[in-house]
Amino acid sequence: MTTATGWIAARGRALHGEVIVPGDKSVSHRAIMLGAIADGVTRIEGFLEGEDTRATAAIFRQLGVRIEAPSDGVRIVHGVGLHGLRATQAPLDCGNAGTAMRLLTGLLAGQAFDSTLVGDASLSQRPMQRVIDPLAELGAQIDSNHGCAPLRIRGGQALRGSLVDLTVASAQLKSAVLLAGLYADGETRVTEPHPTRDYTERMLTAFGVPCEFTPGIVAVRGGETLRGTEVHVPADFSSAAFFLVAATLVPGSDLLLRQVGMNPRRTGLLHVLRMMGADITEESASVQGGEPVCDLHVRQAPLHGIEVPVEHVSDMIDEFPILFVAAACAQGATIVRGAAELRVKESDRIAVMATGLRSLGIRIDETPDGATIHGGEFQASATIIQSHGDHRIAMAFAVAAQVADGEVLIGDVANVATSFPGFDPLARTAGFGLRDA
Ligand code: S3P
Repeated sequence: MTTATGWIAARGRALHGEVIVPGDKSVSHRAIMLGAIADGVTRIEGFLEGEDTRATAAIFRQLGVRIEAPSDGVRIVHGVGLHGLRATQAPLDCGNAGTAMRLLTGLLAGQAFDSTLVGDASLSQRPMQRVIDPLAELGAQIDSNHGCAPLRIRGGQALRGSLVDLTVASAQLKSAVLLAGLYADGETRVTEPHPTRDYTERMLTAFGVPCEFTPGIVAVRGGETLRGTEVHVPADFSSAAFFLVAATLVPGSDLLLRQVGMNPRRTGLLHVLRMMGADITEESASVQGGEPVCDLHVRQAPLHGIEVPVEHVSDMIDEFPILFVAAACAQGATIVRGAAELRVKESDRIAVMATGLRSLGIRIDETPDGATIHGGEFQASATIIQSHGDHRIAMAFAVAAQVADGEVLIGDVANVATSFPGFDPLARTAGFGLRDA
């Protein structure tokens, strides 16, 4: 677990061996949520022991669900059924987890009781009107603090199945509407401007709920019973991404990432890195718990700049911090457009990456929805990078430091534990130069 508040990162050695990254964050959140409102028991294997997903489990315990944790990565959820959650007066604390807050807003909108969702300082500044508005179309009543948390969700509303056309491509918003739709009268159909990750749809199906979905459109009917099941959480592609880029950049590297989740709505970075010249092969492909997985074998390769195809943006929305690092090491310019969502993640990822890369000597032109990154060489003479409490920014700069001349001091890294507990020891074992500050 990351307990350091800062890291000192610098060149290590070539990356070698095998790496197993922790379970997928999106799948882990959803497995707890659907398990909680199912009839019967759900066993989750490969659960992410991160702060975000533990916050979700703690909230369902507060709502009266028994969740056992017999060993690391295993949860046994004793479902209470669609209408079995219990009211609590205490606020439900989502910590740093946007996924928890947005999905729970939908799920709680369908309950008979009132509830309040709160989050940490970063989450309390993230936009929530985008989830309140589509849920209001079903009849949900949610009060906010000027569009931000705390969110007060009024229970006892009769939700109506609706046709909801989302204007933002966001799996969190789509999932919130689908979860509310389970409590609505009739059918709820959601369309999205670009297809996003479809874990809620796949998991509802695995829990026995008929759910029609094709990329960009999904429909559920209210009142269906969920049946407890077994969920095998694949390794998180977004966590693997830091090692994919590190091994691509560090001379002499040859690394195997074991059994990584390869849901096509998550692997946009793989396409983009290959377009840039990366040498990544897929081996031992199989299907685990309904999700494609494979080993990813990465060898160092020179990269060149490209224009990132806009159709890949949603499929790599969490991978832009590490893509910016790859682009900074590529020959020529890399152009990113259509990614304005990056400005409302755990930090403004365009601005924070631009500031950090500039302090490492890279030229980068920011635009409202992206950036042009001009490849170059990192010059770090004890450079200090602020990650603004954003886990993916901290890990991206730990990778950048592996090819910088000089040490990089990365501040504010405790939030790495939200998505990737154990990143630093794992990275050191693979060959990273990384120590606590
Ligand atoms: C997630 C959806 C994405 C992603 C987040 C996890 C999910 O957010 O950035 O890390 O599990 O549904 P948006 O829905 O805001 O794009």
